Amino acid sequence: MINSNLSLESHHFPVMLDEVVKICSPEKGGVFIDCTFGGGGYSKKLLKFSKTQVIALDRDEFILKIADELKKKYPNRFSFFQKKFSEVDTVIKDQLVDGIIFDLGLSSIQLNNLKRGFSFKSKEKLDMSMGLTNISAEEVINNYSEQKLKLILKILGEEKDASKISRNIIKARLIKKITKVDQLVDIIEKSKKKNYTNKINPSTKTFQALRIFVNKEITELIKGIINATKVLKPGGKILIISFHSIEDKIVKYFFNNFSSNRSKPSRYFPENDDNIFLLDKYKNKIFKPSVVEIIKNPPSRSAKLRYAIRNNNQFIYPEELLNKFKKYLDLEGLNV
Ligand SMILES: C[S@@+](CC[C@H](N)C(=O)[O-])C[C@H]1O[C@@H](n2cnc3c(N)ncnc32)[C@H](O)[C@@H]1O
Repeated sequence: MINSNLSLESHHFPVMLDEVVKICSPEKGGVFIDCTFGGGGYSKKLLKFSKTQVIALDRDEFILKIADELKKKYPNRFSFFQKKFSEVDTVIKDQLVDGIIFDLGLSSIQLNNLKRGFSFKSKEKLDMSMGLTNISAEEVINNYSEQKLKLILKILGEEKDASKISRNIIKARLIKKITKVDQLVDIIEKSKKKNYTNKINPSTKTFQALRIFVNKEITELIKGIINATKVLKPGGKILIISFHSIEDKIVKYFFNNFSSNRSKPSRYFPENDDNIFLLDKYKNKIFKPSVVEIIKNPPSRSAKLRYAIRNNNQFIYPEELLNKFKKYLDLEGLNV
């Protein structure tokens, strides 16, 4: 049994809460799925409207206590599943929903718990699992080949010094197993000595890459978007808050290419077949946090919120999305 008190010490500020609630229009009632419950910010706010029902998911067992408290408060209107959001279509039966929200990435509760190894301030075990994973960062760092490590850092972290860092990881692990976060930070800092500016921490990109890889975040996002679209009502909304360019690229591509006004027809699409569209006209509007919100909650600065509306067409599996981002799916599927 995990001691969840540690994780509850810190609080997570829900990003763009007012914007999310406004788009969902909960005053009219409706069923909403909060795919990334975390500290429960969106779920709690949506439940304040008396005619709503909220179904929440999170892969992380450390937040079960927060979900349990909410279940006690709203026994008939709130339910929770410890599941990955790629399985979002399995939490309801014979029902379609009004809104589905994804607030991607890590919560402050996870980042601030140094025992979990997400923060480069940690001196603890290199773990980086958000829950329901089958590998840890330690296993990746100590077992993967130099070539595979390089690909992970380069593609998932967009790390320019991927070659040097991977080479130095291999050298270091021949001398001593790399088990702690500070050992890895030290290797990264030595690899980047000449190159890095003070603007971002030298470990940021490597840590992002490892976290994405360990949690298969790109595969989760692509499957999550597809399965969410499957269970949205006509007129239902899918809202996605992304924090880095790979995530936003995927969301933007799906919203643009599966809405009736797609800007550039893809060569993979059949000509003149309007039935393949799953979404209403997409306005390509991006919401960003206000200056006030960024001052109050600095991690919100890179957040981008996009939403799209499900149309009346029958669901057809959007294979094209898998083809388009195959490079990431293959990479996340890499074994030792
Ligand atoms: C940014 S936080 C969400 C914070 C939340 N909106 C709030 O107001 O507190 C992201 C949460 O999503 C969870 N998560 C990330 N990827 C997931 C996935 N594939 N399936 C389920 N939960 C996931 C994480 O464990 C984390 O708790």
